[in-house]
This record gives sequence, C-alpha cells and structure tokens, in this order.
Amino acid sequence: MNILLLGSGGREHALAWILAQSRLLSGEGDTLYAAPGNPGIAQHAVLTALEATDHEAVVRFCEGKRIGLVVIGPEAPLVDGLADTLRGHGFNVFGPSQAAAQLEGSKGFTKDLCQRAGIPTAGYVRTTSLKAATAALENFTPPYVLKADGLAAGKGVVIAESREEAEAALTEMFGGQFGDAGAEVVIEEFMEGEEVSFFALTDGASVLSFGSAQDHKRVGEGDTGPNTGGMGAYSPARVLTPLLRGEVIERIVAPTVRALADEGTPYSGVLFAGLMLTSEGPKLIEYNCRFGDPECQVLMMRLEDDLGEILLACAENRLSRVSPVRMSKDVALTVVMAANGYPGTPDKGGRIDLGQAEAQGAKVFHAGTALAAGDLVASGGRVLNVTATGPSVGEAAARAYAAVDAIDAPSLFCRRDIGWREVGREAVRDGEAG
Ligand code: AMP
Ligand code: GLY
Repeated sequence: MNILLLGSGGREHALAWILAQSRLLSGEGDTLYAAPGNPGIAQHAVLTALEATDHEAVVRFCEGKRIGLVVIGPEAPLVDGLADTLRGHGFNVFGPSQAAAQLEGSKGFTKDLCQRAGIPTAGYVRTTSLKAATAALENFTPPYVLKADGLAAGKGVVIAESREEAEAALTEMFGGQFGDAGAEVVIEEFMEGEEVSFFALTDGASVLSFGSAQDHKRVGEGDTGPNTGGMGAYSPARVLTPLLRGEVIERIVAPTVRALADEGTPYSGVLFAGLMLTSEGPKLIEYNCRFGDPECQVLMMRLEDDLGEILLACAENRLSRVSPVRMSKDVALTVVMAANGYPGTPDKGGRIDLGQAEAQGAKVFHAGTALAAGDLVASGGRVLNVTATGPSVGEAAARAYAAVDAIDAPSLFCRRDIGWREVGREAVRDGEAG
C-alpha cells in the first residue's frame, strides 16, 4: 500500500526510517510519501509539499495516491481535526480525533477528566482572568506551577519560586504572551519526584504498551537553564519498573481510555503520558497526543516489530489482536545537536558535514536541516538527533558521543551529559556487583 507521513522533524525521520522497512511497503510500487519532510526523511520517502493545515489538499493527495494509511506526527494537525477530516473521507489514520486530542490541546480538559475518572495527578484550579488567578494563588504554596491552557510549543509552563514571580508570570500569560493558549491558565500543586515518560497505543478499547523513556528538557548540563523541546533522551527508563508500569496502566492510562470512550470521544493513536514518580506513587503531569520528540527516536531504535503493521492495526481498531510489542533489551540514547542560540533565536544556515558519524551503527536523524546549493545546513533550533544503542546507558552514550564527535558542524552545540542520572545509577549497581 501507499503510506503518507505528515511532519518534518526528528520524530518523523525516525518514523520514516522504520516505516520504510515495513512489510506494508513491500509490494511492487508501494510508496512512502512524507509531507513536508526534510533531507533526512527524503532518504526513505518521496517528499511532497502538502500543508497539513489545508485539509482539502491532504484529502485530494490521499485520493490521488490511494493512500492506505496516514500517520500524523505532530500535535498541531491533530488538535486542528485533520484526523477527523481524513476519517470522514474513509482513510485509515494513525492519530486521535480533535475531541480526543484535547488531552494535549487543553490542560484544563485533561485535569477535569482526571478528576472525573479519579486519576492521580496534581491538585489544580482553572482560571480565566488575571484577577481570579492571582486570588487563587492564595490556595497554593510555592513553588507555583502555572500553565497556559492551550498549545504553546512546550513553552507554556512556568514554575515560580515566589508569589511575586508567580504574579508577574500570570500578568504576562493573561497579557497575551502565549496568544489564545494563555486565555485560560491552570494553577497546579507542585509535585516532587523523578519524571518519566510512558507510551501506549490505543484504538479506543485496547491498550498496548510501547515503552518508556526519559528526556532532558533543560538546555544546560546538569539540567540547568531554560526549558527546550528536549536536548536528549534514552529508553528504556529503568526507574519505571514493571510494577510501576502496571500501576500507570491500571490507574492512569486505562481509566483515561475508558473515560474518553464512555464520553463518546474514543482516543485512537499514541498516548504519551508525562509522569511524576512521587512518594505516593506515579501521578500524571500531562498527556501528549503524539510520540515524543526526541523520545520517538530512541523508541524506534529499539523496536523489533513492524511499525507499519502495528499503526495500521491501531487505525483499523484491531489492536486487541496485536501481540505485545517487542523492544530490544539494549538501551537507545539520543543526543540533540541544536543550533547556537537555541532555545532563543537559533543561528540558521550553518554548514553540516556528517562525515562517518553512522559508520559504527549510530543513526543521525534530521530534525531541522535543509539543503542549500547541495550542502546540508541547519534550518531550525534542534538540528540533529544523534542516536546509538548499547547494553547500558553509559555505553549507548559513549557510542552516541563518538558519532557526535565525527560530525563537523561549528554552528551546533549539544549537552555532554545525556543520561547522567542513569549513568550514575549504573555506576552504583556496577560497584555493588563488583
Ligand atoms: P508540561 O508541559 O505540563 O509537561 O510541563 C513541563 C515541565 O514542568 C514538566 O516536564 C515538569 O518538569 C514540570 N511540571 C509540570 N507540572 C508540574 C507539577 N505539577 N509539579 C512539578 N513539576 C511540574
Ligand atoms: N520531548 C518532549 C516532547 O516531545 O513533548
């Protein structure tokens, strides 16, 4: 069959790389299309210049190319209802409806759902004016967690240490800092603990575990400096033990899937749960309605099954008949190489020479690259995801950094400590064993 993948980042490069290996594409003439894609994705797919916001054009393309499966990578087209439009025209889509994508599109929606379904999460209040929000701070203790309700490209959360800082942040949010996304602000209780991400596929009825990961959101080493979309990640996250994973499925993911189905808006696609492992057990921080970026890159490096067949089964409501997903026992780790200036204004146009980076089995996923007169150049904030596997986080990191060092790209930087928490724990375990 023909498959269309929508998106243009490192997540979509990893998806394109693994989808291109699917049996779904093994027939004569079967083609993977990607829109708009990037130079890395172009190694595996035929690029086409579709805009995901132009639903009619996407439908026309799918009709013209007889697309058997559409995979929607990023959140914006999902929250915008592209999956609904395509399903309305009879296409198989991997990704939730507009109504179900509210899990990412509105933080208040998710908090209310958690409350209705008894899902463990931080206490909260939804506010729609500066006056109400400022008054509501009275009921919380510092640090104050303030979140713009809508999509804000990962930048809509402020953790304020003092009342003054919180009031200043609220003033900016209600003043239009995040546009419409900040017309409502959710104030939350601060949760202490270690963060972990868990991924599950669901067709609205069945839930299939898809692995765990931890990322590094801060730009600086030792998890310091401003937040980013993620500077690196590794999978699996051993802190999410099988016992805790069972608890997450039973107390968080399954009740979410059930509640949405009961309310007539079943969720179909991948549920990305951001979790806090607190002293009272795992609690939900937030949901995303897509794979994480760069978490997807490390999950795909470990996947041993046919992603195309799994996503098609999900789109066709057949997940109950899919066997548990097989993942390599190896660790996968990815290092994000970002353009100088990121997460502020990144330098664009810097030349990139990948050299022999992939010679030792590492994969370099393109996140923000372009071709300029035949040369590969940086075209975004996060530019490359240099990814490797190994029997431990330490070894996967060593291989990923060896590949990073083989790349000549003076306008890019990376953190040198991806995986540090787990590398430290491995050292303790090795010490105990030795
Ligand atoms: P979010 O975009 O909701 O994932 O929030 C971004 C980051 O803010 C999370 O990854 C956490 O590090 C932090 N965060 C969000 N909510 C809370 C909370 N209630 N308590 C503690 N930290 C939080
Ligand atoms: N890396 C975090 C995210 O994709 O939201």
